[in-house]
Amino acid sequence: MNTIQSYIKQHKERFINELIELLKIPSISANSEYKNHVLKTADTLKISLEKAGCDTVEICKTAGFPIVYGEKIIDKNLPTILVYGHYDVQPPDPLNLWDSPPFEPIIKKTEIHPEGAIFARGACDDKGQMYMHVKALEFMTATNQLPCNVKFMIEGEEEIGSANLATFVKNNKEKLTNDIILISDTGMIANNIPSITTGLRGLSYVEVEVTGPNRDLHSGLYGGAVANPINILTKMIASLHDKDNHITIPGFYDKVEELSQEERTKMAKAPFSLENYKKALDIEAVYGEAGYTTNERNSIRPTLDVNGIWGGYTGEGAKTVIASKAYAKISMRLVPHQDWEEITQLFKNHFKNIAPKGVKVKVKPHHGGQAYVTPINNTGYKAASKAYQDTFGKIPVPQRSGGSIPIVALFEKELKSKTILMGFGLDSDAIHSPNEHFGIWNFLKGIETIPLFYNYFTAFSK
Ligand code: BES
Ligand code: MN
Ligand code: MN
Repeated sequence: MNTIQSYIKQHKERFINELIELLKIPSISANSEYKNHVLKTADTLKISLEKAGCDTVEICKTAGFPIVYGEKIIDKNLPTILVYGHYDVQPPDPLNLWDSPPFEPIIKKTEIHPEGAIFARGACDDKGQMYMHVKALEFMTATNQLPCNVKFMIEGEEEIGSANLATFVKNNKEKLTNDIILISDTGMIANNIPSITTGLRGLSYVEVEVTGPNRDLHSGLYGGAVANPINILTKMIASLHDKDNHITIPGFYDKVEELSQEERTKMAKAPFSLENYKKALDIEAVYGEAGYTTNERNSIRPTLDVNGIWGGYTGEGAKTVIASKAYAKISMRLVPHQDWEEITQLFKNHFKNIAPKGVKVKVKPHHGGQAYVTPINNTGYKAASKAYQDTFGKIPVPQRSGGSIPIVALFEKELKSKTILMGFGLDSDAIHSPNEHFGIWNFLKGIETIPLFYNYFTAFSK
C-alpha cells in the first residue's frame, strides 16, 4: 500500500530517530561559540534533502550562516511550492530550568501529549516542524506521488533576524520563483481544534543604555544627589504605558489597522478558555490593553515589552553602589501597516526626549520586520483547509498569531507570493523556553497533512 498513513506506520520509528539526531546538534545561531555546530546542521540537512529525493541540493554561502537550498522540478508547467523553515535554534538558557539536557532529546508522555513528545531545544521551533516537510517529500518521491514542483529553502539565522536571507532572496528571485510559500513554524489551537495561522506580527527590537555619572559611586556618599541610571531607566520604561496600558510613544498607533466589529466578532468565535489559559500559566488574572480581549491583545494589537534589564550589583549579598550605567532590551510587536523602521525611529526620539538632564541615553536598534496577514480566499488557503479536513476531520479555524516571522512580509514584497502557515505546534510546547517539546502525534500529523496540501494545491491551480 502506498498511502501516506501506511508509509508513516512503516517508517515512523526511523522518522523520529532521524529527528532526534538532528536535535542533538546545538545549532544556536546567536552564540558564536556554536558556529561549527550550526554549519554541521546545514550539512546534515543537505544529506537529508538529497535522501528525501531532491534532484539538487546546495549549501548557499551568505555573510552569515548558509542557506540550504534544494529542489525537485518534475514539470515546468506544474505549480511550484517553496518550503521555508529554519535549522537554527534559540539559546537554551537558563539551563538549570530544564528537566533534561536541551541537546539530549528524550521522549516523555505529558497530559497534552499522551502519545509522547520529544523534549529538546528546537523540537518544535523549528527543526521538528521543518523536518515534517522533508519526510513528506520522502514519501511523495519514494512512492511516485509528487504532484508538482518543490523547492526547499532552510535558513540558519531566523532566530537572529534573517538579515542574510533577505539579501539572498533579493539576489535570487529567478531561482526562487514559486506559486505558493509553505511554512510550518507556527502553532495551532489544540490537537482537537486544528487552526491555520493567518497573521504574524511585525517586530522592532531595540537595546537602550542609560549613563549617569562617569563611574560607579558609593550610594551613601553620592546617593540622593545624582541621577541613578537604574532608577531613571525603570521610571522611563514605566512611563511607556499609561494607566490603560496603551503605549505612550507619540505616533505609535497612527497607522494601526483597527479591525471592524464584524471581524472582531468573528475572531471571538475561535475556541478559547480564559480559565484554562490562566491555569496553564498559574496566574490569577490576565493583564493588558483596556478595551481588548486576551486573544486580541496577543494578535491584532501592538505591544511593547522589556525582554531583559540589567545594571548595578546583582551578585551575592549587598553592595552599596550607584551604577554608572543601566541597560534594557525592548521589543515592540507590530500589526499591519505599522512600519518597523518608522516605529524604531519614533521610539528612539521619544526615549531620548523623556530622559531627564543628568543622564545620557543611547538607543541601538537590533532587528525588525513587518507584520503579515494571509488571505483566506485564495487557492493556497483553500488547499490547506481541505488537507486539514481530511486528516483532522474538522474545518481548521483561521487564527492570527502574535509571533513574528519577519521574512514572510519580505517574501511577498520580493517574490510576489503568498505564504501559507501550516503550523502543528501548541502554545504549551514551550518554544524559546526551558523544556521545549513537540508531540509525536503532531509531528506525524504534519507529515500526513503536507502531501494532501500538495495534491489539493495542484488540483485547485488547474
Ligand atoms: N517560529 C517562531 C515564530 C512563531 C511561533 C510565530 C509561534 C507564530 C507562532 C520564530 O522562530 C520566532 O521565534 N520568531 C521571533 C522573531 C525573530 C526575528 C527572532 C519571534 O517571534 O520572537
Ligand atoms: Mn521558528
Ligand atoms: Mn523561534
